[in-house]
Amino acid sequence: MGPFGNCKIKNQCIRIINYFTSYIIIKYQINVMSLFRKKSLEGILSQAEDSEKGLKRTLGPANLIALGIGAIIGAGLFVRTAAAAGQAAGPAVTLSFIVAAIGCAFAGLCYAEFASMIPIAGSAYAYSYVTMGELVAWIIGWALIMEYALGAATVSIAWSEYLNKLLGGSIPYEWCHSPFESFTDSAGILHQGMINAPALVILLLLTLLLIKGTQESAMVNLIIVFIKVSVVLIFIALGWKFINQANYQPYFIPATEPAVTDQAGKVIADYSSWNKHGWGGVLGGAAIVFFAFIGFDAVSTAAQEAKNPKRDMPIGILGSLVVCTILYILFGHVLTGVANWKDFVDPEKGREASVAYTISTYMKEYSWLATAVTVAILAGFSSVILVMLMGQSRIFYTMSNDGLIPKAFGELHPKFKTPYKSNMILFVFVGAFAAFVPGHVAGDLTSFGTLFAFVLVSIGVWILRVKSPNIERPFRTPLAPVVSVLGALICLAMIVGLDQQTLKVAFAWMAIGLIVYFVYSKKNSKLNS
Ligand code: ALA
Repeated sequence: MGPFGNCKIKNQCIRIINYFTSYIIIKYQINVMSLFRKKSLEGILSQAEDSEKGLKRTLGPANLIALGIGAIIGAGLFVRTAAAAGQAAGPAVTLSFIVAAIGCAFAGLCYAEFASMIPIAGSAYAYSYVTMGELVAWIIGWALIMEYALGAATVSIAWSEYLNKLLGGSIPYEWCHSPFESFTDSAGILHQGMINAPALVILLLLTLLLIKGTQESAMVNLIIVFIKVSVVLIFIALGWKFINQANYQPYFIPATEPAVTDQAGKVIADYSSWNKHGWGGVLGGAAIVFFAFIGFDAVSTAAQEAKNPKRDMPIGILGSLVVCTILYILFGHVLTGVANWKDFVDPEKGREASVAYTISTYMKEYSWLATAVTVAILAGFSSVILVMLMGQSRIFYTMSNDGLIPKAFGELHPKFKTPYKSNMILFVFVGAFAAFVPGHVAGDLTSFGTLFAFVLVSIGVWILRVKSPNIERPFRTPLAPVVSVLGALICLAMIVGLDQQTLKVAFAWMAIGLIVYFVYSKKNSKLNS
């Protein structure tokens, strides 16, 4: 008999749940309107003016596009393209990129409208404080932790994989994988992950760099972007000749595709569910490669450093998105044309460090390139991690100034003038994920947090159009209600395309966020005073 088989116990449980629900309703009903209190747009703009005193407006449109590309191209492209092909979409991963790009384009247009209208740090969190009130702003801020903090963790895990590849696989499996990962090699030996030490090391180094205040200057970022884009272009140009048309047959994973097991019989890929084959697999793949587009919204966090945010924010956000979309589609086409998508299922083949694997296996005369590509990718990953950690600390900084999280997150180092405590707390949190959680889990949670923010930003633009139609909008999202609704729907569809497990963990995370809000943030909000 299950725990609820007994009627008495069942009734008792219902009574307890009713009791707690009523308690919460009575306790908070008095202030239910305060959940929707908003910051005024005028207030937020004058706050931006104040904080501008210490910031230099140095970034032009080219720098902003470069900043976007610097934050966008990373593990999503170099690792998750192969994961999406091997787990859900097959060669149709190219279509997955198109679906994800359409969702991002709609959300990007909405971000562009907000960022040119409200050019302050805090991004989606700050926009929703104005449009949808404190509770929704908190929910977005909490979801953004998944985007930025877990994004940094995911890319550091990918960094570790590529470092291992560069060192010829000499880091023992145990020391570069989470305890939740294991695999049996061809000799029948079981390898059990323990801790991802290299991921911790790169996070520590970049955290120290951030605390020291050595930020990426526009020039350094430009150099990294140049290297990253060159690597992608070289791979596309050279790889095109090695495309084997047979690899595109069939283009979609068939519903009948058998599950794949490792040597010990453990299932490592199963194609039976709706989002793992056919067109459903394209959507499932879009949810996986969506990660590759994350970062264009980080441009909006630089709004206070843009020379002419009203004009340049839309250029930076949409320009970086367009450049990356074109590169991604071509890259996905070449990768799945040169190597067979089935190679990307097996951890002993191309599942990890897929680009280096593809070059050294199928483009043998260019195998020297595999090493250069790996080094360039490592540099590229580092800039993504840095921007993600920086973006997160800026969002924490804004939330702390609003009183929603403790003051420590907003405290600046007396000498370096960086939010050092925030950086250190972030290192512990991000480091724990990087060391102990598998890359794909952290990556999917990152996608959830970002998609969630995109949905609310898309809806927010429409709300503000209706509520405050007369505010000056330097950039207007074309066909606003249609773009808003489609942007929100496509991003919602990609959320549904994520793993059940990911969704469960994400909802648990959001539930914890609500508890924190009611226990701490609501009481400490600056809007109380
Ligand atoms: N878009 C970034 C990446 O792919 C987060 O690494």
